Amino acid sequence: MLKDNLHVPVMLEEVIDYLKLTPGATIVDATIGTGGHSLEILKRIIPGGRLVGIDRDENSLALCRERLAEFKDSLELVHANFADLDQVVGNLGIEKIDGIVFDLGISSYQLQDAQRGFSFQQEGPLDMRLDKSSYISAYDLVNNLNENELSQMLWNFGQERWHNRIAHLLVQERRNEPITTTKQLADLVMQAIPHRYRRSYYRIHPATRTFQAVRIAVNRELEILESAVRKAVDILKSQARICVISFHSLEDRQIKHTFRALKADGLIDIITAKPLTPSYGEIEANSSSRSSKFRVAERI
Ligand SMILES: C[S@@+](CC[C@H](N)C(=O)[O-])C[C@H]1O[C@@H](n2cnc3c(N)ncnc32)[C@H](O)[C@@H]1O
Repeated sequence: MLKDNLHVPVMLEEVIDYLKLTPGATIVDATIGTGGHSLEILKRIIPGGRLVGIDRDENSLALCRERLAEFKDSLELVHANFADLDQVVGNLGIEKIDGIVFDLGISSYQLQDAQRGFSFQQEGPLDMRLDKSSYISAYDLVNNLNENELSQMLWNFGQERWHNRIAHLLVQERRNEPITTTKQLADLVMQAIPHRYRRSYYRIHPATRTFQAVRIAVNRELEILESAVRKAVDILKSQARICVISFHSLEDRQIKHTFRALKADGLIDIITAKPLTPSYGEIEANSSSRSSKFRVAERI
């Protein structure tokens, strides 16, 4: 097993506490990844409990199957988009659940695999598909969207300040030859940003926002979020909880608004008036947790 690549679960203690786990519970991990949250959930719901783990990424599911083998009788792993979680749960004959967790985005296991094309720090193909059976890759978007569409994508999904300049340069460059690799894209982003801003403006690598935007567009990550949260709340038992960890403001804002709308409809109570954030200790131990926000709601 690729133990070194295992993703470190973010806000693990908080997730475990807020889910109010008890033996016999049926829980859905809508983004099981490499199973970090699920491992701790499973320990607390046996005997008699059941965990449904969903992921769009078959590699992560294969790793999970191996990692969580000792719990195999309590575990159902399903290759699916959490947008279809009602069907996933229905197909397993489950009507209502005792809790659900969404840990959005990608895992370090995926980020570190250069061939997946998520990382601007390693040379790899421009791919970024979470589910390798989907049709559109980062290559397709970067090489086929027109300048205006590229610019919109970078602004809408990355809030990239230099979206116009980056889109312009990408369109110019791809006239000579297609943009095929992560390094090529990252280098072009760097070139597009005015020299004096390359270091000072960004605390993060200048390509971070562009890569985030392309990944969100490839996987249509924001389009499905609200409906997935609504579907989750639909299948929660009374007093069962939904826990969501997000990693950028676009996601967090959607979760906040969806929770508010569901509260206004009298379906949930919001448990975390403001999102919880990781402790300094956690950020120090795992810097990838630094931008996470955690929101919890309870079905009425
Ligand atoms: C941050 S990781 C989860 C890590 C996991 N909690 C752990 O402890 O290992 C997010 C996971 O969600 C998956 N994912 C993202 N969007 C998804 C979607 N719409 N449906 C199903 N899985 C999705 C990704 O493939 C990735 O494995």
